[in-house]
Amino acid sequence: MIARSIFTQNYRNLTSCEIPFAEGVNVICGDNGQGKTNLLESICLFTGVRSFRGAKNVELITKGEKFSRLELEFFAQQRVQFASLVITDKKQAELNGVKLSAASGFIGKFCAVVFSPDNMNLIKGGSGERRKFLDAAISQHYPAYPRLLVEYNRILAQRNAFLKKSVSTDGFEAMLEIWDENLSRTGAEISCKRAKYVSDLCGKVEEIFDGISSGREKISLRYNCGYLVPDSVEQTAHALRKQLESHRVSDLAQGCTNYGPHRDDLSIAVNDMSARNYASQGQKRSCVLALKLAEAALLENAFGERPIAVLDDVMSELDKLRQDYLMNHMEGWQVFISCCDPNTVKGLDKGKVIEIKGGSIVH
Ligand SMILES: Nc1ncnc2c1ncn2[C@@H]1O[C@H](COP(=O)(O)OP(=O)(O)O)[C@@H](O)[C@H]1O
Ligand SMILES: [Mg+2]
Repeated sequence: MIARSIFTQNYRNLTSCEIPFAEGVNVICGDNGQGKTNLLESICLFTGVRSFRGAKNVELITKGEKFSRLELEFFAQQRVQFASLVITDKKQAELNGVKLSAASGFIGKFCAVVFSPDNMNLIKGGSGERRKFLDAAISQHYPAYPRLLVEYNRILAQRNAFLKKSVSTDGFEAMLEIWDENLSRTGAEISCKRAKYVSDLCGKVEEIFDGISSGREKISLRYNCGYLVPDSVEQTAHALRKQLESHRVSDLAQGCTNYGPHRDDLSIAVNDMSARNYASQGQKRSCVLALKLAEAALLENAFGERPIAVLDDVMSELDKLRQDYLMNHMEGWQVFISCCDPNTVKGLDKGKVIEIKGGSIVH
């Protein structure tokens, strides 16, 4: 899909205006605090999910104003479409002249893959960050998946609460057997879905990372799960059950469950060394970019539309070759890149430079 133009009124520090975009690369440049991220954020609100900055509605409205209005013209499903958002304490959304009951009605109509500096947690953060990434990505493909997670977390909390109780309780063993059975059945479904997703992601990530690093480096992904039997939920459940049984003593001593998808991790390595422990800042950035773009490519395979790519503040710390890849070799993608350094833009072969100063577009 292609964002053709946006009109903003009373949106954060942006002055009211219409901004046309190029079909390929759009580089938004300007000093700190001028409104680059604000502009990217306004486009991304049309994906129907919350601001990638996690902002509340009131924060989106220009200080001193009562409402904010955004209009996006985009091309998707072989036609030009119009979306609008009026933001007060809530969001009123319209698509092609039809009122939607909520902004979430945009989900799947206009899609973006967003990279912001916070996403670096995917490499730098703990395993929970990587599980969150996988779970969010899988949820877009399998609408029933979030329910499975809720169910698993409920069983896990109950099992943990039960472990903390006295072992001498009547029927303790029998009750624990039931929790183990439920936990391993639900847990195995989650682990298998994640493992399958990672295996689907691998090829794309490798290909994109190869492009970003100009073939200088190799990325590898592995879903780390001690009891996984690939492609068999039943056998995985059986293996998890066995793990739970053999670690019952330590689980009881610690009052928590040491095995299950809540402990799994996604290993990310550059040239066979853990990205978290060994990769440079720029290599880490490249890993996250490759993961995000590969996620978008899988969505495109599933739904037939390629999301736009929004890359906020990624250029710093990337070397010239990597910058060149993002600006000139993302063929078939509409890309929005923000950057501070005017020299970066010199490397742009074609596409559009949008310079922003004090919330206004400088022509
Ligand atoms: N609701 C708002 N009303 C007015 N100005 C705002 C609002 N929200 C943010 N700003 C201003 O926007 C600027 C930050 O813009 P931002 O897009 O984050 O900058 P950058 O170009 O560095 O990405 C700050 O000067 C901030 O004060
Ligand atoms: Mg910014």
